[in-house]
Amino acid sequence: MSQLKQEVERRRIFGIISHPDAGKTTLTEKLLLHGGAIREAGTVKARKNSKHAKSDWMEIEKQRGISVTSSVMQFIYQDKVVSIMDTPGHNDFGEDTYRVLTSVDSAVMVIDAAKGIETQTKKLFQVCRMRGIPIFTFMNKLDRQAKDPLELMEELEEVLGMPSVAITWPIGSGMQFEGVYDRMKNEVHLFRGDKSTLQLSEDGVNDPVLADHLSEENLTNLRDEIDLLDGAGNEIDVEAIQSGKLTPVFFGTALVDFGVTAFLNHYLEMSPAPEARKSNVGPINPTSEDFSGFVFKIQANMNPAHRDRIAFVRICSGVFERGMDVTLTRTGKKIKLSQSTQLMANDRETVDQAFAGDVIGIYDSGTYQIGDTITTSKQKIAFEALPTFPPELFMRVSPVNSLKSKHFHKGVEQLAQEGAIQVYRNEYNEIYLGAVGQLQFEVFEYRLNNEYGVDIRMEPVSYSVARWVKDKELKALKPFQDSRNMLVTDRWERPVFLFANEFTYERFAERHADDLTLVEALDV
Ligand code: G4P
Repeated sequence: MSQLKQEVERRRIFGIISHPDAGKTTLTEKLLLHGGAIREAGTVKARKNSKHAKSDWMEIEKQRGISVTSSVMQFIYQDKVVSIMDTPGHNDFGEDTYRVLTSVDSAVMVIDAAKGIETQTKKLFQVCRMRGIPIFTFMNKLDRQAKDPLELMEELEEVLGMPSVAITWPIGSGMQFEGVYDRMKNEVHLFRGDKSTLQLSEDGVNDPVLADHLSEENLTNLRDEIDLLDGAGNEIDVEAIQSGKLTPVFFGTALVDFGVTAFLNHYLEMSPAPEARKSNVGPINPTSEDFSGFVFKIQANMNPAHRDRIAFVRICSGVFERGMDVTLTRTGKKIKLSQSTQLMANDRETVDQAFAGDVIGIYDSGTYQIGDTITTSKQKIAFEALPTFPPELFMRVSPVNSLKSKHFHKGVEQLAQEGAIQVYRNEYNEIYLGAVGQLQFEVFEYRLNNEYGVDIRMEPVSYSVARWVKDKELKALKPFQDSRNMLVTDRWERPVFLFANEFTYERFAERHADDLTLVEALDV
């Protein structure tokens, strides 16, 4: 096998999604520890402590460095090179979070087993499902009183509409937590005592040996539940898991590092290595000799000492070598990739070589845009456009000092290009910003002031739903404006209607169903 093929096959890259406080940081830390990446695990912890820092861009830079962004952490476990893409929660949540999920091959969804599915998880889950990537579920905090596991499984199906299959199963929870049963390996990992593993006979959970280790109540429940799962639950269908149609479920506690190894081992067996990615010239195979990759995120000012931007590139094919020449497909321009970094939480290490399935950061002085493809191929490869995500928060924005208007427009244009925020204009040339997270506004305000020397005025407006209109010219849409909506254009001059809420949008859509096709997003 060629070295490239070997390297690609051992790569796994996943995004970790959860509602704040479900245990994403703790799980990440434990996974890194398993892979021996102890130093980075420490860094994760350090980040976490400053998580509740004031939501101010400068503070964020000072205290969290690159953690504002979705950083990449890599570890090696059982010869697999695993990259974890962090997806910020809390106030950090923004479009970036969604975009990161376009660069991964699978997702791990962490759920607090006492709470079940929460809003943020739901949103992120939908993005993963849209891409059809496999989603692995880790039910966390079993050391605390948890919801009934069958109920949690049902919730996955009802709230997320995703069939699930338990790979491991909890034996009690909280004070009564005694371990997990691995249905595929037919073994029980004991939580108490020496934390040993019991290999069961072919009787499975009916093996009498369990009576020596588990409480009567737990054992009865375990037997009943497994009986139910075997009889009425979904089958463990690896193909369905790999095509994102079935989520495998694991139980454990990240804090105590229990159930994490079982999860990691199964994850590595079931998760896909990098696969071909669609492009304008057909699918690009990861083992193709030509290097190619796309920019899914641009992060400015990561290092306060240098005014630099970093473009995050997911490598889709071939080998990256530091100093190599690539072509930026959009402009046809040749670029030397001499400054590249692998991004590990607060630390940046220079990478000399990376393979399809890795993510690297390249220094950017304003060259790249979100979605750009770079390649060594002679063909003009462009990977599929990244989706835009419907913003839910809007602000009207203007410069405090109208003499600064030129700088203001330049800043707005550049930050929109970078993908930091969405920008709309109405017929009076008023500028509206759209975001999916509050932090995007704060970052915008800070950067306009800091980088472009413009103080801005931001006024909240009462819109919360944006819908693009398919196949219609702006002019033709003017008659559809009324007091309950506003017609604007996005930065590609495509018409968009803003509505106060879902209800007004639905009423409008119904009324004009014959004339207008309204969509949540259009590819760029
Ligand atoms: P997040 O990144 O998803 O926001 O969650 P994070 O890992 O920061 O965990 C949130 C809180 O939940 C932390 O407590 C963490 O210790 C706790 N936690 C995570 N996993 C488990 C678990 O398996 N069992 C229990 N009992 N708790 C868990 P905290 O009090 O906010 O922080 P700390 O002071 O304990 O670090």
